[in-house]
Amino acid sequence: MADMGERLAFLRGFLSRPREVASLVPSSRFLERRIGRVIDAGQAQTVVELGPGTGGTTRAVLAEMPADAQLLAVDTNPEFVRRLQAIRDPRLIVAEGSAEDLAAILRAHDLPRPDVIFSGIPFSTMPEETAHQILAEVWRVLAPGGRFMAYQFRDAVLRRGRAIMGEPLVECEWVNLPPMHFYSWDKSGRSGSRRTTGRATAP
Ligand SMILES: C[S@@+](CC[C@H](N)C(=O)[O-])C[C@H]1O[C@@H](n2cnc3c(N)ncnc32)[C@H](O)[C@@H]1O
Repeated sequence: MADMGERLAFLRGFLSRPREVASLVPSSRFLERRIGRVIDAGQAQTVVELGPGTGGTTRAVLAEMPADAQLLAVDTNPEFVRRLQAIRDPRLIVAEGSAEDLAAILRAHDLPRPDVIFSGIPFSTMPEETAHQILAEVWRVLAPGGRFMAYQFRDAVLRRGRAIMGEPLVECEWVNLPPMHFYSWDKSGRSGSRRTTGRATAP
């Protein structure tokens, strides 16, 4: 849950880059917990978070993840990246960069294909071309049997994602105002537990 310093940093981030942050406040504790459940973080091995912001969602997912799992958090905002780097958890790797370059970022950190990618980046405020590039990159690097989940207030990712990934599973958190939608796409492939013994390298 964000303290006052974190809320102010988030607001500064919004004021300096409104289209990239697209929200005045970080996710509530309630939403943070729901994210962990929707991605089944307790079964994940290599997780990527796109748009972690000031890190509330990152900490919540780390709390659910197995002790030997890894989480790569990627954000474009250097101030957010500095705050994320202050999270003391050996499973966390923080990268400043764009989701468009996910394959290169995974390679730079010698990480395998993720079995979970989750995203809070606002697909509704970015150019069509950028959204397409990010979704295509996500789907390309995701491990067979893996899950991509985007939590969004608007449905732009649904319309843009269908062409690349097919129909998602849609869940809604009505307690939140405005209601938050969770769009999940499961890539076909290995079934059962997401945990792997082998290591498929990132493309
Ligand atoms: C709505 S905030 C979500 C923050 C946090 N996960 C939460 O729920 O409170 C969106 C975040 O996406 C980041 N972002 C926007 N475009 C991005 C991109 N192309 N690649 C990576 N991060 C991006 C912004 O800097 C911001 O931190």
